[in-house]
Amino acid sequence: HTARVVIDPAFRIGEADRRLFGSFVEHMGRCVYGGIFEPGHPSADPLGLRQDVLELTRELGVSVVRYPGGNFVSGYRWEDGTGPVGDRPRRLDLAWKTIETNAFGLDEFMVWARAAGVEPMLAVNLGTRGVQEALDLLEYVNHPGGTSLSDRRRKHGAEQPYDVKLWCLGNELDGPWQVGHKTADEYGRLAAETARAMKLIDPSVSLIACGSSNRGMATFAAWEATVLEHTYEHVDYISAHTYYDPSDGDRASILASAVDMDAFIDEVVATADHVGAKLRNRKRLKISFDEWNVWYQSRLQHDLDRRGWVEAPALIEDDYTATDAVVVGDLLITLLRHADRVGVACQAQLVNVIAPIRTETGGRAWRQSIFHPFALTARHARGTVLRTEPVTPSHDTKRYGPVPSLSTVAVHDDETGALSVFAVNRGETPLSVELDLRAFPGLTTTEHLTLDGPPRRLDTAGRITVELAGASWNLIRSS
Ligand code: AHR
Repeated sequence: HTARVVIDPAFRIGEADRRLFGSFVEHMGRCVYGGIFEPGHPSADPLGLRQDVLELTRELGVSVVRYPGGNFVSGYRWEDGTGPVGDRPRRLDLAWKTIETNAFGLDEFMVWARAAGVEPMLAVNLGTRGVQEALDLLEYVNHPGGTSLSDRRRKHGAEQPYDVKLWCLGNELDGPWQVGHKTADEYGRLAAETARAMKLIDPSVSLIACGSSNRGMATFAAWEATVLEHTYEHVDYISAHTYYDPSDGDRASILASAVDMDAFIDEVVATADHVGAKLRNRKRLKISFDEWNVWYQSRLQHDLDRRGWVEAPALIEDDYTATDAVVVGDLLITLLRHADRVGVACQAQLVNVIAPIRTETGGRAWRQSIFHPFALTARHARGTVLRTEPVTPSHDTKRYGPVPSLSTVAVHDDETGALSVFAVNRGETPLSVELDLRAFPGLTTTEHLTLDGPPRRLDTAGRITVELAGASWNLIRSS
């Protein structure tokens, strides 16, 4: 079982944008309450921000964090979460059948984002709300001062505007589960008008129109086409979401999940470019892949059905396996391979809710298996992404038919000269991979990192052979 990969600095895809290593904090389950925020926790600061979670967030290497939803945002009144905490209203959150106390809101999130060293990415509510409320939020967040809303922000402690650049125009409005679900025409019109008006307040913002909730939606592709016909000239990104469910125990298929993500990206790009051509618009949109992960989805309905209205219930706190970590690593490889067209990506979510970081309320915080491929990729995928065309065996899967066993991408750090090759063996059989690095004569040492053992030293002499275990994630780093 052998494969071969030639790596050459001439095969440039694009920059490894830091924004590809984003995450997501939604008011859902214990992501905010008991996750990033828990007044009274031994590690909490005076505002209630858990320092143990902040430390793990920094270690994870997250760049952008999307907030406050998700399905939650489609019924959210952002101003509820601002001002004196004692005056904030308790509300019903219809998305997760939860009581929202609003003890944590926009201003607390901004303090948290600064402490975490991440770029905030905000979503406006286009489910139950519209243009005016989106404008009010943008004015509160980005306008310097001298108006009612910007002065309200200053009164709440933020003298300087937050200067948020990334804005999602609603969330998953193609989904019948969404509060305020819309047809593509209804949403497209609303998103276009919201975008146009938002750019009047702040032309420097980048706007993201909602694409499909997943590739399996009956409206997939038609939704993107219609929404973009309305919004193309006003937006910068179209979103994509996907979750891969290992519940049925079909390990061969779950290990091949990235094959689906890869095709999904190609199809969204083709659809967006088709609309661009039709509109004679030469601008090229990028994808904001702002929700992706492995998710044991079958458990959610069960969690929601068995209870009434409560505050911050534990929701979809999935325990991840070593196999799930390999899948997450391969999904990151796929996002990097599309670095020319995917400009933002957010793993969903950051803490407790299908997350790399887990916590006990009042107790410890820890890393799940999927933390490690994310942290290693975020740390080492710096510089120029290089296309690799592995010559690889393939194997059969129930969900996707025959799939290439080897998935790879290379990133060359132009400053340090280091070369990182990320590789996943999706098959169960060990794979012997010949890496042809002759186009990088300056490299002298190579290390092979995996998720389950100490790093191994390899000889670097133009061509090296690396043994990849079955179902494994690997980083081969040369300098
Ligand atoms: O991340 C969990 C949920 O999945 C989000 O709220 C929603 O946007 C998606 O369906």
